[in-house]
Amino acid sequence: MLRYGNMRDLVLGLEVVLPSGEVWDGLRALRKDNTGYDLKQLFIGSEGTLGVITAAVLKLSPQPRSVSTGFLAVPSPAAALFFFGVLRRRMGHDVSAFELISQAALSLVLAHLGDVQSPLPQQGGWYVLTEVSSGRAQDELDAALLEALQEGLEAGWVEDAAVAATEAHAAQFWRIREEISDAQTRTSGSVRCDISVPLSRVPSFIDEATQAVLALEPATRMVVYGHMGDGNVHFNPLRPENVSAPDFLDRFNTPISQAVDDIAMAMGGSISAEHGVGTAKRDELLQVKTRVELDMAWRIKRAFDPMNLLNPGKVLPALQAEGA
Ligand code: LAC
Ligand code: ZN
Repeated sequence: MLRYGNMRDLVLGLEVVLPSGEVWDGLRALRKDNTGYDLKQLFIGSEGTLGVITAAVLKLSPQPRSVSTGFLAVPSPAAALFFFGVLRRRMGHDVSAFELISQAALSLVLAHLGDVQSPLPQQGGWYVLTEVSSGRAQDELDAALLEALQEGLEAGWVEDAAVAATEAHAAQFWRIREEISDAQTRTSGSVRCDISVPLSRVPSFIDEATQAVLALEPATRMVVYGHMGDGNVHFNPLRPENVSAPDFLDRFNTPISQAVDDIAMAMGGSISAEHGVGTAKRDELLQVKTRVELDMAWRIKRAFDPMNLLNPGKVLPALQAEGA
């Protein structure tokens, strides 16, 4: 989450069983520790290829005194980004979430949930779920969010907004956001791209990638959502309603992933912001990582797991010998 950081930032210590059978007890709870290599970061995101994590110490934060949650309609991802700037300028790190949702993503999840109303009239554009939280009193925080929304409305970056009046209301906003992925799985026939780009490039990434997808299949439903405050977009084009999932994926999975990942890379992005590599993205690493990076990764793998026992075939692409 935007305010508290991703899992890499929240892990203070780990216990890991190594391929040799040794156990590393690194269950420290230190916020500062500069005694050499940060070994825990090697295991985080290694997807079980270096060791098996058996325990972790996580950084906790106090529950904030007050939380205020808004669901906004915005004309475009660029407008969403401008409004994110307004919120950050006014509220700094009190902005705890800023999630972008496309119209197709909202329509899909509402159809999937069945029992949830859209928080706002659906206007065919984009939506943002934002949460601010702080040690201030609830009415002060609500007033600060409303003032920011007023500025956004006046500037034209926000078209409409609903602020949750109760915790249950806020939970319903979150349910809409959190069920999108499941709605996609149940609908089947999505190409799932989990990319990140520098924050300022999110709108142009979405524009370019949308154009590339619609050039391949103009009836594709543009299910796009994600953690905009982190520059992380789940860009998941969904088959047209009248095309079967196998047919769509056979024809478009590879060309869409390739086009989307190429656009993200050209903007200095990543082809896997939070979902990892596995086998699906493994061979693409040959294009997006340098030879030096891949060589270092293999040297680490061999040092920890010389017999290639742990999760073989995952994360690390096979390398051609230099000059072969
Ligand atoms: C989400 C999962 C798919 O953001 O990462 O909903
Ligand atoms: Zn996500």
